[in-house]
Amino acid sequence: MRQCYIAGNWKMHKTRPQSADLAKELVAALKDGSNKYLVAPSFTNLEAVAAVIKGTNIRLGAQNCACEEEGAHTGEVSVLQLKDLGVQTIILGHSERRHSYKEDDALINKKLKLALKHGFEVILCIGELLEEREAGKANAVCETQTVQGLAGVSEAELANVVIAYEPVWAIGTGKTATPEDAEAVHAFVRGLIAKQYSQAAADKIVIQYGGSVKPDNAAELMAKENIDGALVGGASLKTETFAPIAKWNAK
Ligand code: 13P
Repeated sequence: MRQCYIAGNWKMHKTRPQSADLAKELVAALKDGSNKYLVAPSFTNLEAVAAVIKGTNIRLGAQNCACEEEGAHTGEVSVLQLKDLGVQTIILGHSERRHSYKEDDALINKKLKLALKHGFEVILCIGELLEEREAGKANAVCETQTVQGLAGVSEAELANVVIAYEPVWAIGTGKTATPEDAEAVHAFVRGLIAKQYSQAAADKIVIQYGGSVKPDNAAELMAKENIDGALVGGASLKTETFAPIAKWNAK
């Protein structure tokens, strides 16, 4: 059985003390939770949050990394620096990186392979734009992003990959995919993994849903067979909204 995995992507929110305070509240709120948990603060707040969550059931995530280990890359942050801070997981291919910062599948794949080489877990985000969904291309877009994002990744390495399906039109908009629409894409992506790797790999891989996940819609989404948790943005910024999602347990 796949473990339910709930992650909070704090995006570019919160100062260091605010991040540490939220982390402290979450440590207390989730200490008896049975799911897998992660918080991903801004780079500048990783060290402060690391100190708070060390030794707890909450993992530390980064929201991005550079595609090179080190060198003349002004403004970038390396996997070596993230490892030094205690980061365990790196979110890659987020739609905000793809669309606002023009990251393409080849760049995301380069980052992903580098992160895996350094022992990180990677959450690979995929998802279609509204016009792509309306044109009936949701599966095709997710297929390209999955296949190209994972190019050159072995089945053994895939054990450290989580996929997050985040339809772009549902992110920060209050519009959630219906559980049925989300489930259809999740099942399709799991089928792709079976085709590209094996049925065993497909059965094992965790596929999170992201996009306006809130306490009142999370249970319905995560109850679906192929939805193994959530990547939460806005609702992860407060304990009152993240904890009820994170503590969901029905599988
Ligand atoms: P919202 O939950 O704010 O829609 O954000 C989702 C997201 O982008 C998580 O990575």
